[in-house]
Amino acid sequence: MQGHDAVCAPAPRVEYGARGVLRKVRKARILTTATDGALRDLLAWYTAMGVDMALEETPVNRLAPSPSAPPPVPSPERPAERLPSALAPPPTLPRVAVPPAVAAPAAEIERAARSVAASATTLDELRTALAAFEGCNLRLTATQLVFADGNPEGRVMLVGEAPGRDEDIQGLPFVGRSGQLLDRMLQAIGLDRTAVYIANVVPWRPPGNRTPTPQETAACRPFIQRQIALADPDFLICLGGPAAAELMANREGILKFRGRWHEYDTGVRKIRAMATLHPAYLLRQPLQKRLAWRDFLALKAALDETAQPAATALH
Ligand code: URA
Repeated sequence: MQGHDAVCAPAPRVEYGARGVLRKVRKARILTTATDGALRDLLAWYTAMGVDMALEETPVNRLAPSPSAPPPVPSPERPAERLPSALAPPPTLPRVAVPPAVAAPAAEIERAARSVAASATTLDELRTALAAFEGCNLRLTATQLVFADGNPEGRVMLVGEAPGRDEDIQGLPFVGRSGQLLDRMLQAIGLDRTAVYIANVVPWRPPGNRTPTPQETAACRPFIQRQIALADPDFLICLGGPAAAELMANREGILKFRGRWHEYDTGVRKIRAMATLHPAYLLRQPLQKRLAWRDFLALKAALDETAQPAATALH
């Protein structure tokens, strides 16, 4: 879908609301003959399809012939002179320098990611290393790195799949609608973000919230694994099937896999891990909240069972 939009390079990046896009569309003389209503419908359709951001000041007409291409031969069915002027390509299109996208073989990128991640000895170092890592091209379209939120000293770490639009804007995981539901679920068992640490397998928003590709996920996996090792929680909770697949090597459906404790080897020690349903899924399927509720109660029971007795004051 983004190929239809003004997507070519990450900088300079602009975001504007529907009105701003409307102005840009008019300015670029695309569909100038269409009515405002038609333009609004078009933009609404783009938004519904996940094209909700513009990445450049100037739209790129990808249907325009390249300067080196021979002029099109007019056919009797579509004589060139009959093309409506509104659909004709703008006379000159500024070319934006595209930063070199990573095209190294996936295995090489994964190896590099593992080595960079392993060299970080603190979460701050890991964040800095990840921000500088060029092996995942999602960083080129995302607004910013979404590294983590909450308390890295917490006993529970929750990991989702990848940031969405709100997370991309705020730079924090799970702050949109699904994050608000997650907060309520945590609150129901007496937890909040001062007690848990939250991250994602992929720390950059995929454009239009598409599913990260296996290559993108593979490039990011060593970093989330290292993040778990460095945070060293007692309990790991995977939110949704993709996180469970990446971190717990699950190949079953999430409805079958969820709710059972497994062992997760952080590389430092073995901790307990469980997958549960993703809050975004629960927003779409509210009846399934009862299953997630069971999982959160199991987490609470495990936390209570293993709680350190509070130190008694010495008199
Ligand atoms: N969904 C996720 O998996 N992660 C987020 O941070 C937000 C939504």
